Amino acid sequence: MAHVYVTRELPGRPLELLRSAGHTVDTWPGELPPPADVLRERLRDADAAITLLTDRITGELLDDCPNLRVVANVAVGYDNVDPAVAAEHGVWLTNTPGVLAETTADFAFALLLAAARRVVESDRDTRAGGWKTWSPTGFLGPDVHGATLGIVGLGEIGQAVARRALGFDMRVLAYTRTPRDVPGVSRVAGLRELLAASDFVSVHVPLTGQTQHMFGRDAFAAMKPGAVFVNTARGGVVDQEALVAALRERRIAGAALDVTDPEPLPLDHALYTLPNVIITPHIASASVATRSRMAEMAARNVIAVLDGKEPPNAVNRPAEPRGR
Ligand code: GLV
Repeated sequence: MAHVYVTRELPGRPLELLRSAGHTVDTWPGELPPPADVLRERLRDADAAITLLTDRITGELLDDCPNLRVVANVAVGYDNVDPAVAAEHGVWLTNTPGVLAETTADFAFALLLAAARRVVESDRDTRAGGWKTWSPTGFLGPDVHGATLGIVGLGEIGQAVARRALGFDMRVLAYTRTPRDVPGVSRVAGLRELLAASDFVSVHVPLTGQTQHMFGRDAFAAMKPGAVFVNTARGGVVDQEALVAALRERRIAGAALDVTDPEPLPLDHALYTLPNVIITPHIASASVATRSRMAEMAARNVIAVLDGKEPPNAVNRPAEPRGR
């Protein structure tokens, strides 16, 4: 019997899966992440951890938790853990690929539509008593159908966004490091070229050394004047000061952001002062079914490692896994 620490209450049946595999489970009950000292304390006796993007797992922490054999992140991203550092400590790191692309793409498309057609802004205005009459000039925005969408990063999520865009009769361009042919999508060789041709830009790259602040002054200057920028990837791919400047100077028409840097975005941040910005709290994968599948996938990764097997969704490969 092994002990699993879960850093937040999760949807679905992950605890049932762990318990029926014979393991004991302890869950942090707070709405906010466990503070670093609590996390360290609870992981000291744990054989496995189910973690979120909000839990920073460092080499130092792993040194202090000698029994810990697997860190199973309930996310496809894992910027809270360095996979190489975990591997050096003999600890498996796992993620949740394949289950959240469609749900995340639904949300990216919802943001695109909402920003284009000013859904949030007009709702806010209506509640404030601004709806006086039917106005031929009120809340005009660009059409989505027939427009060009530029997708940056054509992995599972980028491809799922492309399929939705094609259903809306959009022309779809993509800029991707990994050459792949996706029906109906035209690949362009450079980011600038994509930005100059797109009415909407949707970002689907992971945060890495190469993608950090990929969208800075030059990128926003290269976009079409009326363009809308959508980010459901990571806040760190955007230089937010450059984005604020581009929006203030009306170099682009609007932005819809499900991710920011930092998260949560402090309430005094300039982005909140701009009416043409939508900000949501990192919820693109937040459907009941998808979040449940993600949590259960993390539990299955834990169960595999505790059974002495390779986890199905490993993102690293310790040369000498702990506990063998
Ligand atoms: C969410 O951002 C994830 O990486 O799953």
